[in-house]
Amino acid sequence: MDLDRYLETAVLAAKKAGLMLVQNIGSEKDISFKGDVDLVTNFDKRSQDIIHHTIWDAFPEHDIIAEEGLSKDKGSDFRWVIDPIDGTTNFAHRFPVFCISIALEKEGQPLVGAVFDPLRNELFSAKKEGGACLNEKEIKVSDIQELDKSLLATGFPYDIRESEMNNLDHFSRFAVRCQAIRRCGSAALDLCYVACGRVDGFWELKLSPWDTSAGALMVQEAQGYVTDFHNNIFHSSRHQVLASNGKIHTQMLEVLKLGNI
Ligand code: IPD
Ligand code: CA
Ligand code: CA
Repeated sequence: MDLDRYLETAVLAAKKAGLMLVQNIGSEKDISFKGDVDLVTNFDKRSQDIIHHTIWDAFPEHDIIAEEGLSKDKGSDFRWVIDPIDGTTNFAHRFPVFCISIALEKEGQPLVGAVFDPLRNELFSAKKEGGACLNEKEIKVSDIQELDKSLLATGFPYDIRESEMNNLDHFSRFAVRCQAIRRCGSAALDLCYVACGRVDGFWELKLSPWDTSAGALMVQEAQGYVTDFHNNIFHSSRHQVLASNGKIHTQMLEVLKLGNI
């Protein structure tokens, strides 16, 4: 398996799409709604097209799944998993936190991942058993041992208004157990921030493979730990994700157990 070639393609696609997004952050956007608070812009689709064509040119035999309605199932063992803008709400409001997330998976396990934050020019990349990097410099999770001293990240599902499983119960429990919680609006970046030690742990529910696949590999390769809320090892088809530096994982699992999981 040529992991280097896969990663180069993911990086090329993410950078091309990122350039287009940066050029258009101030542009007028066509916004449509998939739900009450779940919006999508015309630039999500444009970003997806750029990434799709770049990957398709290099690997026409591979399967592809991307958030904005793109799904190619050729029966391949390899599947590209793409979020053309992770942080769409931020992008639509010109809040400067969003990224492009691309992973290549084999049987649901990520082999390579690229997450690109085009406004900060930060490229997170990882190869299975090959480590994780931020702009080509190796990254590692933090050394914090106690939940009490930890900075955490999370997010809320788009059905927050309708569903009781909306993470507000976990949020209020963690809020009084850790140092602080951030809600930045991009699950892929949240995972990358665990990988490089900017935050110590991240949890969220009702996520999709395009939110988590690349970022989960980043954490694993940076010597962190990624499971669901029951401590089952990460698989991109699972909707719950708990990622941490490993040292606070059990403490986070205990808090999650108190809620409705
Ligand atoms: C969303 C972001 C957000 C998370 C949501 C995701 P989108 O992805 O990652 O941080 O809380 O659950 O759906 O819609 O911006 O691609
Ligand atoms: Ca997303
Ligand atoms: Ca998206």
